[in-house]
Amino acid sequence: METVKFTQMKDGDREDYAFLTEHEVEYAAGTADRLLDAMTSLDKSLSGYKVTRLGHSLQSATRAWRAGADIDWVVSALLHDIGDIYAPYNHDEYAAAIIRPFVREQCAWVVEKHGDFQMLYYGEHVGGNPNKRDAFKGHACYEDCADFCEMWDQSSFDPDYDMMPLAFFAPMVREVFARKAYDPQVVRPGIRVPLTDAGVAAQRASQN
Ligand SMILES: [Fe+2]
Ligand SMILES: [Fe+2]
Repeated sequence: METVKFTQMKDGDREDYAFLTEHEVEYAAGTADRLLDAMTSLDKSLSGYKVTRLGHSLQSATRAWRAGADIDWVVSALLHDIGDIYAPYNHDEYAAAIIRPFVREQCAWVVEKHGDFQMLYYGEHVGGNPNKRDAFKGHACYEDCADFCEMWDQSSFDPDYDMMPLAFFAPMVREVFARKAYDPQVVRPGIRVPLTDAGVAAQRASQN
């Protein structure tokens, strides 16, 4: 069998769908590499900044990694602007949708909302609302998103920053996207992991 027998989904049988499931599993296994390829096309997107979108993404991820952030945070920082390619008006939601099945819920939320939080830094110059993030005050991950934007996003437009190359992060992307989608052990609803190792140490001290 090279293709399914049906031309309308409603006519498919168990054999057709078993065949398709096999193909889907095989295709999904290539997600990490497709994303890494997509990152290289970020090198050509959105001109005008002193760094390309890929450079910005690598800087964000490098800062996260140097801060001692865990793999969920580092990969989230790397991919936080990947939505720019196809969704320039909701790039944050698009990126969040890509990572959501494979990272902690906390990280997906932060990536989803980072566009609103980033307004703090330039909203006043573009006729936007710098305080757009206030709508999320009281959310458990509000501070995480504020810190993500301050430490890793708004700061990462420096052409002189010594960032790690995409190849350095590739194994981390592969590890994250090899996880079982929506595994509760990965998504860990309600769990907050601090962004930095200093934050992790402080959290541990406060729990003892
Ligand atoms: Fe962004
Ligand atoms: Fe960004």
